[in-house]
Amino acid sequence: MDRPAPPPSELLEIAIDVARDAAATAYRMRIEGVSVAATKSTVTDVVTAADRAVERQITDALRRLRPGDAVLGEEYGTADGGTTDAPARVRWIVDPIDGTVNYLYGLPHCAVSIAAELDGAVVAGVVRNIHTGEEWTATAGGGAWRAGERLRCSTETDLGQALVITGFGYDARRRAHQARVVAELIPYVRDIRRLGAAALDLCLVAEGRADAYYEKGLAAWDQAAGGLVAAEAGLRIGGLKGLPPGPEMVIAAPPALYDPLHEHLTRWDAAGGP
Ligand code: IPD
Repeated sequence: MDRPAPPPSELLEIAIDVARDAAATAYRMRIEGVSVAATKSTVTDVVTAADRAVERQITDALRRLRPGDAVLGEEYGTADGGTTDAPARVRWIVDPIDGTVNYLYGLPHCAVSIAAELDGAVVAGVVRNIHTGEEWTATAGGGAWRAGERLRCSTETDLGQALVITGFGYDARRRAHQARVVAELIPYVRDIRRLGAAALDLCLVAEGRADAYYEKGLAAWDQAAGGLVAAEAGLRIGGLKGLPPGPEMVIAAPPALYDPLHEHLTRWDAAGGP
């Protein structure tokens, strides 16, 4: 028999509590001193001891609060809390520290990101800046919020006036392709920003602190919570050529900017390359 579906608001409350404790741990560990524990896809794709400790803390807390749920985390992958007769309906998608390189250098643009999926759709998410305590939340259909204010994305209609955030992957050949795309795009926009934490980038765009965002190569944990915050703030989110947002491409733009940005990114094959 199907397990009952918890309301998104209940999942969000859990996510917020767990994210606050996790961000406190990450902040404390940053003050105590950070070192690289391992590298992943390339030598510049680092994992700190805090990434691992914080993910363990989040997973343990979720297990305690919602024992039957599945969890997908950046550092430790999937753990399915479902049983064979009743697979988990809720899956938590966790990035313990998004913006790990910023964290390593003490740059205050890194966050804990926790999203809850219900039956395969993200319904709740929280992104909390580890340094500043700024916290963005959203539930599906319930809007995007920060500090009690409902968020609305930029109303910019001219791509030439748009501040666009993007990011780069860790693989050198991929970065070279992404840099060529940026070189082609930059004459057509106000400016480009590379801040270094996709979840926070999506939240900044959600409240109009930049106009649009795009990036190739995001994993589910980079975009699950921030993507819901952005969508709930009115941004149109998609991939290239009608595809859904995913590892090939995530574009988050106000409705009026989406098509012109998409056109440039398609022309320069932003989802292509290595
Ligand atoms: C990275 C950051 C970065 C983005 C990369 C991500 P991580 O996540 O979000 O801004 O450009 O694509 O992998 O490694 O810091 O969790």
